[in-house]
Amino acid sequence: PSPETLERLSSMFAINSDKLNQIVRHFVSEMKKGLNSDKSGLLMIPSHVVNLPNGKEHGSFLALDLGGTNFRVCEVLLDGHSGARVRQSKHTVTDEQKALPGDQLFDFFAQCVTNFLIEGLASPITNPLAEIAKRHWRLGFTFSFATNQVAIAEGYLILWNKGFSNSGVIGANVVQLLEAALKRAGLASITVTALVNDTTGTLVSHAYVQPSTRVGVILGTGTNCAYVEKIENITKYKNVDPNVKEMLVNTEWGAFDDEQVIVPRNKYDVNVDRSMNGMGKYTFEKLISGMYLGEIVRFVLVDLVKTGEIFSAGASPELKMPHSFETAFMSRIERDHTLDLSDTRTVLENMLKISRTTLADRRLVKSLCELVGKRSARLSAAGIAAVVTKMNKLDGCTVGIDGSLFELYPHYSNRMRDALREILGLSAEYIVLEQARDGSGQGAALIAALAEK
Ligand code: BG6
Ligand code: GLC
Repeated sequence: PSPETLERLSSMFAINSDKLNQIVRHFVSEMKKGLNSDKSGLLMIPSHVVNLPNGKEHGSFLALDLGGTNFRVCEVLLDGHSGARVRQSKHTVTDEQKALPGDQLFDFFAQCVTNFLIEGLASPITNPLAEIAKRHWRLGFTFSFATNQVAIAEGYLILWNKGFSNSGVIGANVVQLLEAALKRAGLASITVTALVNDTTGTLVSHAYVQPSTRVGVILGTGTNCAYVEKIENITKYKNVDPNVKEMLVNTEWGAFDDEQVIVPRNKYDVNVDRSMNGMGKYTFEKLISGMYLGEIVRFVLVDLVKTGEIFSAGASPELKMPHSFETAFMSRIERDHTLDLSDTRTVLENMLKISRTTLADRRLVKSLCELVGKRSARLSAAGIAAVVTKMNKLDGCTVGIDGSLFELYPHYSNRMRDALREILGLSAEYIVLEQARDGSGQGAALIAALAEK
């Protein structure tokens, strides 16, 4: 590829150490503002979770997990010795379901729960619902959207993101919507005892296996972070029980800098923001998470075709189609170490139907993926650096991280670590980034158990 093209793209996507440090300072000040009032800065939602698990939690719980791409139903058996057994079923939420009237979406959840509980019965029974109703079930609901949480099992949806737009849910208590749907399905013996964000679920479940965990992060379809805050610092939180010392706070960092005063953005970022639901909202998430990265790359490629800098055969109808360039393609391309970038060719020519690519084209695409992927990792690292700085935990803590981007995107965690070193210097060595697994199933069950303490 031509050095001029590469240089131009690099200047659009690269974020140097100085800028990262400025972002961190602004982030810390926005966190403080958000803890003070609901009117400015980050949302900083008090989760009402005031304990971390000590491993002795026990009992059987149901957990529902509505994350980014999947809806899961889990039965979690906590054994009282830091162990858990989980039985689960997983369902993809389709684009059609993301646009259904809210009641119908919740009816779908209830249907999944019914099927799950019937499958769990020891043997076929004539009236399975009556059998299920004999037992009282406690359920932790992981609902991974910004909700104004007013109690451990009460929260009102503030806004949808990640492609959801179901009507009648914004402003409603999602626990009530779920319980009503369960009742309609004949499952009135289930009580929702905890409402959880995926970040708090991840934090709590990772703390169950790694007690030094103080931060939970999701890097998947969307991105967000929760951490442990001293109760006296959450000045907007009233009615404090004098025995409560700390509370998990859901930052909703996806909406960081929606005022657009600190994070550099280029015309492709603006295009992606404009083309998606919620223009001007969750703009930090739109630079970082899996739902958006491929679309940024696609906008750049379409532009490069127009200026004659790539694909002399032109753009295919597939490439012109919104969301056709999946973030998973970026992972594949970044993982392609063949001399002629043959797997990159497969993606471009077979999947995106570009009729002919040169090695220079493929190298350019790979460099572009690297720029967009690296920026995402550096920005999420800036968020983590800000959170540990705010917590005064530069002497060490563990960050549990879940989500498809962190798990599957090559070099992602190394790039985060590099950025953390640039920002925090030697202290970065004490910040441990760990893959958390099945954060939210176990996390919701643990939070439901903790809520009973
Ligand atoms: C899962 C968690 O492991 O990761 C979910 O249980 C979370 O709660 C999800 O939302 C995020 O991943 P993705 O890639 O599906 O958005
Ligand atoms: C979105 C949601 C947030 C969630 C994140 C990761 O940013 O607003 O609540 O934690 O996605 O799933």
